[in-house]
Amino acid sequence: MTETFKAFVVDEQDGKVTNQIKNLTIDDLPEGEVLIKVKYSGINYKDALATVANSKIVQSYPMIPGIDLAGVVEKSDTPAFNPGDEVIVTGYDLGTSRFGGFSEYARVKEEQIVQLPKDLTLEESMIYGTAGYTAGLAIEKLEHNGLSVENKEVLVRGATGGVGTLSVMMLNAIGYKVIASTGKDNAEAQLKALGAREVISRITKTDDKPLGSRKWQAVIDPIGGDTLSQLIKHLDYDGSVAVIGMTGGNHFDSSIFPFILRGANIIGIDSVYTEMKVRKHIWRRLARDLKPAQLHDIKQTIKFDDIETHINNVLEHKNSGRIIIDFEA
Ligand SMILES: NC(=O)c1ccc[n+]([C@@H]2O[C@H](COP(=O)([O-])OP(=O)(O)OC[C@H]3O[C@@H](n4cnc5c(N)ncnc54)[C@H](OP(=O)(O)O)[C@@H]3O)[C@@H](O)[C@H]2O)c1
Repeated sequence: MTETFKAFVVDEQDGKVTNQIKNLTIDDLPEGEVLIKVKYSGINYKDALATVANSKIVQSYPMIPGIDLAGVVEKSDTPAFNPGDEVIVTGYDLGTSRFGGFSEYARVKEEQIVQLPKDLTLEESMIYGTAGYTAGLAIEKLEHNGLSVENKEVLVRGATGGVGTLSVMMLNAIGYKVIASTGKDNAEAQLKALGAREVISRITKTDDKPLGSRKWQAVIDPIGGDTLSQLIKHLDYDGSVAVIGMTGGNHFDSSIFPFILRGANIIGIDSVYTEMKVRKHIWRRLARDLKPAQLHDIKQTIKFDDIETHINNVLEHKNSGRIIIDFEA
């Protein structure tokens, strides 16, 4: 083990936030049973937000952001894990109140760790990251509520974003007819190559009608906001919306009619504190039936030393696909 290692540290003084790669020692890491040598991480929008002032993501400074990491166990104080084990950690307090994945080493609690499933590499686990894990969890919950491949169309909103792209790919991998909604004029060919049957513009308007035509059996929605009401009124009988994010706003209004006349369901998705049994099940699915053939096509691999430039791109929505940090590149 090296004496010092590199970590991307966010700090705050007098309301001013600074970001810097620093040399730390293992003693600087928080308490936890398992020390992990991080091999890969990924940049999510939440990680980028953690580097700016007043974002409410970071609970205490200094902080190492990074809500996702994949690596190899270096030292373990629990029989549940052994040195050499390949492991994944996503969510919980990682990168918000516990030092996260933008670091060559991380120390975490044993109950937060998933063994890398068979048929998945550490790199692939971070191409998915929280975005892919969340998409997988949404599909699982939609299926639990009656979605099956015989059913009609599934709409994915924010289709060029992290959650959206992976939702399109996974739904296509298991045979659903995917309709992708995007605000980007030039994304149609790319989304069709990833598995969308049809690409439509962003849904931006709402109307006062209590119900609309029956269009989708299910919707994966990382956007939220007022237009969520439009999705609900266009669901088919017993259809469901998986509500994931609020890129488009944190409030919506709806009449009661879609629920009592069409059996509409709203399903909340939380990737951060999912129960471990469910978490392991989703990761096994991500290694098997949900794994798209083109998973590697959406990765952009970067060196750890270049992290700040890429964080800024994410903040300015200039990125596409998944940015993967390879600590050995
Ligand atoms: N519930 C959970 O556990 C969980 C987990 C992961 C993420 N999330 C949340 O899910 C959301 C999306 O995450 P992400 O990682 O996919 O983010 P992302 O990569 O930034 O993608 C968001 C996408 O939303 C679309 N968009 C951007 N601004 C918009 C606007 N004003 N109105 C409508 N659409 C807009 C864009 O896609 P198009 O240009 O293609 O429309 C964009 O690519 C975030 O709110 C995130 O916090 C929640």
